[in-house]
Amino acid sequence: MKLIIKTFQGLEEILAEEVSTLLDKKADLGRRSVFLDGTMSDIYTLNYKSRYALRVLAAIGAYQVHSYKDVYDAIYSINWEDYFDVDKTLYIESTVYSEFFKNSQYITHLTKDAIVDQFNENKGRRPSISKQNADIRLNIHISERTLNVNIDSSGEALFKRGYKDVTAEAPINEVLAAGLIRLSEWDKKLPLLDPMCGSGTILYEAAMLKYDIPSQYFRDTFSFYHWNDFDQPLWSEIQHDAAPLKVEGSIKGSDKLDYLADELKESIAQSEFKSMIEVNRGNFFQTDALEQPHHIIMNPPYNKRLSLDDHKAFYKNIGDTLKKKCTGSTAWVFSGNKQGIKFVGLKPSKKLTLYNGPIEAKFHKFEVF
Ligand SMILES: C[S@@+](CC[C@H](N)C(=O)[O-])C[C@H]1O[C@@H](n2cnc3c(N)ncnc32)[C@H](O)[C@@H]1O
Repeated sequence: MKLIIKTFQGLEEILAEEVSTLLDKKADLGRRSVFLDGTMSDIYTLNYKSRYALRVLAAIGAYQVHSYKDVYDAIYSINWEDYFDVDKTLYIESTVYSEFFKNSQYITHLTKDAIVDQFNENKGRRPSISKQNADIRLNIHISERTLNVNIDSSGEALFKRGYKDVTAEAPINEVLAAGLIRLSEWDKKLPLLDPMCGSGTILYEAAMLKYDIPSQYFRDTFSFYHWNDFDQPLWSEIQHDAAPLKVEGSIKGSDKLDYLADELKESIAQSEFKSMIEVNRGNFFQTDALEQPHHIIMNPPYNKRLSLDDHKAFYKNIGDTLKKKCTGSTAWVFSGNKQGIKFVGLKPSKKLTLYNGPIEAKFHKFEVF
């Protein structure tokens, strides 16, 4: 079956590379996605282990449609009881890029009607629709006259890893954080430091990468649990494959907000990450010089969700601190403040453009000599 794996813009290539490592299969690049022919085992493996996937969709069918009635008929022609039973809750999401079909809400409505009508006729009962935490998620996509019907095996997006209980004001998305670490080409040997760690997303993702912890080791639900053909023994086998947690710390973070650093430190101390990640209070600009080179990744405030008094001075301070205190280190700065990042005052040896939600962001590499 055809699988469509969704990700963020800019992470498609590393996702395709990851898919080929995990499954030993080649994936083709799409727009904010990659796709391949896959099996149920591939679906479980990708959901459990991919660090760069947001969702794993499986194609149910593709149809040529010329009218709204064709859409209804196509959806009705699918035998829905093959996929889920009447007691499951359902969420339908539609996207439409077409001259002929304009209204995605109407497509959602028609899809629901066709499914409900079929269940009513066969069972005398219908599945209910739920916007939150639905058991089954369908993804309907119309491009011109082609209707693609996909079932979403993940359910909640895969950035919901289930390891975090500290919230900060502008946390980075987990999938994006994993992507930044991968793009930064960390060798997993140099100690990794995030000196503006907030809720610790970069630290957690670095620990999971370094210690080979599957991305969803801590998550307890996926939509495919609700599928009629859910294969529990196969799923257990895939989870069993996961490497056991190992210990040894070289991932460090700090934040100038004392309460946040304390909360994160406490939360890590209570978790399986306790010997992997070290967190301290600290203003980066007043830090002691590092005793050895580090691999630094930081996501400073952009002056958007988190405001800065003087964004030029702030970014200049990052550059000055790197020069004075972090000699020999490699520092990657991820920021949606495209002007600010210029004031770091070091020449970037690599510049990448990514998106943090709708915000275009720069990811610059600085070698600190
Ligand atoms: C965009 S947030 C980082 C979010 C983080 N990546 C996460 O996932 O939660 C920026 C963080 O930088 C911290 N910060 C700002 N100035 C700092 C400084 N001079 N030293 C250390 N931390 C600082 C803020 O307190 C905030 O938590």
